[in-house]
Amino acid sequence: MSKTIIIFFGPPGSGKGTQAEMLAKKTEWKKISTGDLFRAEIADRTKLGKLADKYLKVGKLVPDKVILTLVEQGLKQKTSGFIFDGFPRNRRQLNDLLTIFKKALKKNDRVYALEVAVSDKEVKQRLGQRRVCACGKVYHLVYNPPINQGVCDICGGKLFTRNDDKVKVIIYRLKIYRKVGEPILNYWQKFGKLIKINGEQPISKIHNDIMEKLKQLKHDYH
Ligand code: AP5
Repeated sequence: MSKTIIIFFGPPGSGKGTQAEMLAKKTEWKKISTGDLFRAEIADRTKLGKLADKYLKVGKLVPDKVILTLVEQGLKQKTSGFIFDGFPRNRRQLNDLLTIFKKALKKNDRVYALEVAVSDKEVKQRLGQRRVCACGKVYHLVYNPPINQGVCDICGGKLFTRNDDKVKVIIYRLKIYRKVGEPILNYWQKFGKLIKINGEQPISKIHNDIMEKLKQLKHDYH
C-alpha cells in the first residue's frame, strides 16, 4: 500500500494545528505534532517535559536531537499516511527527515509540504484569543468558541491560555519561524511539492481547499 505524507508549515497561530487535526480525522492518517508531544510530556512532568518546558515557555526551539527520537517513535505507527505539524522546523531537521524518508519511502509514495499562509498581524490577533484544553482541543474565543464558556466540548476540562501565548513570546516565535522555518519551504518548492493555502479564510473553507488540493497530488516520491 502506498503512503501519503503531508507536512504542514505556517507561522505560529496560522491554524496549521487546527487543520492538521481536521485532516487526520477525515483521512485517519496519523498526526505527528511535535508541539503537542512536548506539551503532553510537560503535563506528565517527565524528564523530557522538564527540559522542553524551558524552551517552550520562552518560544525557543527544543534541541534537534530530542525531536528526532520523538518523530522516529511516531513513524513506527501502522498507517497509510502521516501528517506532520511543527516538524521539520529548520534545515537540520529537514535533512534528518529526508534521511528517514530515503530509507523508508517507496517510489509510489507521496510527500508534500502544505503552507498555511497568514500575516504577522493575523497571528497576533489569533493567539491573543486562543484557549486550549489539556486534552489537546484548541479554541478561539471568536472564530471557534466552545459551546460552554471556559469548558472543553470534548472532555469537559477547564480551558486555559498556553504558556507561550504572551505577546513577547509570540513575537519571538514569529521571528524564529520567518528566519529558519519559512526558508525550508524553498526545498519543496524546487521539487514542485509545495501546496500553498490562504490561511486567512474561515476554518471550514481552508479545510475544503486542502481536501481539493489533496485530490490532485501525484504518487511519485523521488
Ligand atoms: P507548536 O505547538 O508547533 O506551536 P506553533 O508552531 O508556534 O504553532 P501554534 O500551535 O501556536 O499554532 P497553529 O498554527 O497550530 O495554530 P492553531 O491551529 O492552534 O510548538 C510550540 C513550541 O514547541 C515551539 O515554540 C518550540 O518551543 C517547540 N517545538 C515544537 N516543535 C518543535 C520542533 N520541531 N523543533 C524544536 N522545537 C519545537 O490556531 C491558532 C488559533 O487561531 C486558535 O485559537 C484557532 O482556534 C484559531 N484559528 C485557526 N484557524 C483559524 C482561522 N482560519 N480563522 C480564525 N481563527 C483560526
